[in-house]
Amino acid sequence: MKYDWAALYGEIRGCRKCGLCEMRTNVVIGDGDPHARLMIVGEGPGRDEDLRGVPFVGAAGQLLDKMLAAVSLTRKDVYIANVVKCRPPQNRVPTEEEATACLPYLRAQYALVRPAIIVCMGATAARHLIDPQLRITRDRGVWHERQRVHLIATYHPAALLRDASKKPQAWSDLQSIRRKYDELCESEKHLN
Ligand code: URA
Repeated sequence: MKYDWAALYGEIRGCRKCGLCEMRTNVVIGDGDPHARLMIVGEGPGRDEDLRGVPFVGAAGQLLDKMLAAVSLTRKDVYIANVVKCRPPQNRVPTEEEATACLPYLRAQYALVRPAIIVCMGATAARHLIDPQLRITRDRGVWHERQRVHLIATYHPAALLRDASKKPQAWSDLQSIRRKYDELCESEKHLN
């Protein structure tokens, strides 16, 4: 189905396709530049996001902002969304049914943004967008290309908060993302 932003946001705000709608304070749809070249996809809103209706504003979100700043980007330069738009209780991983119900919204978001790069933060996003068998520790940092969109999986910032020893690998992924971003923006300049 083809959407425009207003229709899409309207539909998501009224969504009752799975049980997560019963517990939400706010639907958490997206943030940032709707024309961004880089899209970041997380798992689902946590408590702070549910309260504010904005993705990645809690502790993991603050780390995400710092990670972006480390490669000279801000959340205004990217578009941020999640696999599910309503908070799973106790921040559990969304079930297959919940993700399946919500994924058409994420697909509509990236059809509207048309990013050159999608960064999957953590296994949930990576398994739904890149490969159901993907394991972050084994498969992070590898580029995939689908219909001229470049996808990469890296550690979720919440994982980095739990285990700082993963930070050097996350930093290497971030640098790779920055290089790909520069390369693609440069080649798009020549096309326009
Ligand atoms: N974790 C996520 O995956 N998404 C958010 O929006 C916040 C925390």
